[in-house]
Amino acid sequence: MEDTRSLDSAANTGVQLPERRNELFATAYPVLCPSMVWPRRKHPELPFPFNHPSARYFYFARNALYALARHWNLAGKEVLFPSYFHGVELEALLAAGVHVRFYPVRQGMRVNLDEVVSLIRDRTRVIYLIHYLGFPGPVRELSELCRHRNLLLIEDCALALLSRHEERLLGSWGDAAIYCLYKSLPVPNGGALVLRRGGLSAFRQHAPPPWRNSFSSAARSLDSYLSNHRKNWQRKLLKMMRNAAKKTGRSVDANSAQAGTNHFNPLHAEVGMSRLSHWVLASQNFSAIVEKRRKNFSYMLERLRGLAPPVFEGLPQGVCPLSYPLLVKDKPAVVEKFLARGVEAVNMWFPNHPAGPKDPFPETYELRRTVLELPCHQDLALADLDRVIAAAREIL
Ligand SMILES: Cc1ncc(COP(=O)(O)O)c(C=O)c1O
Repeated sequence: MEDTRSLDSAANTGVQLPERRNELFATAYPVLCPSMVWPRRKHPELPFPFNHPSARYFYFARNALYALARHWNLAGKEVLFPSYFHGVELEALLAAGVHVRFYPVRQGMRVNLDEVVSLIRDRTRVIYLIHYLGFPGPVRELSELCRHRNLLLIEDCALALLSRHEERLLGSWGDAAIYCLYKSLPVPNGGALVLRRGGLSAFRQHAPPPWRNSFSSAARSLDSYLSNHRKNWQRKLLKMMRNAAKKTGRSVDANSAQAGTNHFNPLHAEVGMSRLSHWVLASQNFSAIVEKRRKNFSYMLERLRGLAPPVFEGLPQGVCPLSYPLLVKDKPAVVEKFLARGVEAVNMWFPNHPAGPKDPFPETYELRRTVLELPCHQDLALADLDRVIAAAREIL
């Protein structure tokens, strides 16, 4: 199968461009800062989905989806699935024996309800909805439809942690939802599942990965922070710790569940989230994250909309944007130019995944060809955004 690693960013993964990461002032995803790993006494209340009684944690969101598909006995059943998708979520469903039928995703990452309805047939069991980059799909309508037609709704919130639609958090509308945590938060790994229908007890909490695995990705993330903040002696200390960790045994072996692969591997399906990720999760100020991301997105929209067409014309209330998406020509070259200026732009979901629709929907193909994500996450101060915007002016 074609390697789809280029579909995604190097952030938190370290598989691509490891030597360049330290030169990035704007990584695609947030990075760890030392205060998040300090010992602390109090554990704050966590928001949804973490406070939901059904919440279960996995190394990756893809593993959560695989577990869900098996729990619901979806083998041989039909899932209506969007034509615009990452690939790894599709691989997880296919590995569970699901039959997938694609519905089109239109310009602006829009899902047309009538088009989904027209595809429902007797064997359809599930509708799969991806909330793109924090922007909600027609989740109210689909949840009502599913209730009337006795279908199940899965909300894919991999890119939409903390985002709301009509005062309700995404993931709380459907029968189940998955979240990819390392895209929004500086955790070394982590996926979550919430299940609003059908036996919680079926989900054991899987054992965490070997500590060295989390340590190496967390150390990379911390190093990025220290380098950006010119904390040179702390960097040296970290380097010594990394070297010492390497000497305590083999470095993370190729078979352990590393972040950084964009394929689903059933052999890793039963690895849980690391203790470090749980620890970091409890250090986050979630409302501040939403506020900062919204502020950053609006700042960029105002300054970049004249330069390149934005994917979303505005920022609806409640949306917690994952990134700032814009439409460009010749994405791979543009990504390189941003990288050369210290900005980790993401070439979103190009090319088409080999298991995608044989006859790609033209508007989805156009999204794959043109959508570029610029970072707007909580680590970025306005001065950083000004540098991103200056880079965009030069490049675009
Ligand atoms: C839409 C979507 N769903 C699911 C996933 C799977 O997330 P994870 O990498 O945690 O398995 C991704 C990952 O990028 C994604 O983009």
